Amino acid sequence: MKNKVLVTGGTGFIGSHTVVELQNSGYEVVIADNLSNSKIEVLDGIEAISGVRPLFEKVDLSKENECGDFFKKHAGIKAIIHFAASKAVGESVEKPLLYYRNNLNSLMNILEAMKEFSIPNLVFSSSCTVYGQPDKLPVTEATPRKEAESPYGNTKTICEDIIRDTAKANAQLKMIALRYFNPIGAHPSAKIGELPLGVPNNLIPFLTQTVAGMRPELSVFGNDYNTADGSCIRDYINVVDLAKAHVVSIGRLLEDKQKSNYEFFNVGTGKGVSVLEIIESFERATGEKVPHKIVGRRAGDIEQIYADTSFSNRELGWKSGKTLDETLLSAWNWQLALNK
Ligand code: WQD
Repeated sequence: MKNKVLVTGGTGFIGSHTVVELQNSGYEVVIADNLSNSKIEVLDGIEAISGVRPLFEKVDLSKENECGDFFKKHAGIKAIIHFAASKAVGESVEKPLLYYRNNLNSLMNILEAMKEFSIPNLVFSSSCTVYGQPDKLPVTEATPRKEAESPYGNTKTICEDIIRDTAKANAQLKMIALRYFNPIGAHPSAKIGELPLGVPNNLIPFLTQTVAGMRPELSVFGNDYNTADGSCIRDYINVVDLAKAHVVSIGRLLEDKQKSNYEFFNVGTGKGVSVLEIIESFERATGEKVPHKIVGRRAGDIEQIYADTSFSNRELGWKSGKTLDETLLSAWNWQLALNK
């Protein structure tokens, strides 16, 4: 009998790659997604890769009744990976209440359902944004969290606290938060990848759309930072490596390997890379030129952040493996597939 895992937000970028890795590891997957920022056709891509079409329900998890109805219909769920959330930094500044309502209500409904339907295990999609601009680099799990740079980032901080306090009050619940750095790339099959709706905010989709001729040129937001080449530094992690960290975390929960019933881990490569280095790596990996210009800084950007991954490497037994060049090539191959 396969262990059944619910993946909320499972037709999204990281969610869809995680569904594939769960299926490849022998889990049965059911997806709950409201399709507000993804397309149902993603199921075709997942099935084309794994050979298995996951169960799917269109659900707004921020609505208590819809969430409850979902769990009444799908019995036997052993663990939940909760991705479903609004995640556009800029939009969260304009519409903070939308972000607090959706992201906090969805999580609280999931936690209530875990108690009501006796589902003890949760992996939560958190973000390095909870660290703000760290005083010291690289960032470890002991690095203090800072005032978030946006309402979106603040919802991640608050959700971590909701999970922490719920774990304290409910010893039967076992929960892990994974703090992602910058997820990039696509499945090597080019059958699933990042599907930004509208003008991309994030660097890699904007870069690949520019090289594909869909944008005139890439704006590099500032080269006057206190870094080697003046552009911002981030820890860019391959989305398939990131997906595998979720599968390892589910295994840790199901096999009762936790040291406490709420743990959190940095999920990055441990290497800081600048925007200009991304451009160089992309050009080397693909042979394509990236038309770009240096412009002013983007409001809200931090200068640099990258992870110390020794704790997650040791405790989870997980390590990122893909090189930056092959990751950027996978992003390019996905863009080419999208444009076909
Ligand atoms: C990366 C770097 C930009 C676009 C955000 C969220 C984080 C997560 C990932 C959701 C920065 C530069 C970007 C462009 C550029 N989101 N850039 N030109 O801001 O590090 O993180 O997305 O889970 O929580 O905070 O990612 O890809 O927007 O930017 O120069 O057209 O690329 O200045 O230095 P960011 P990003």
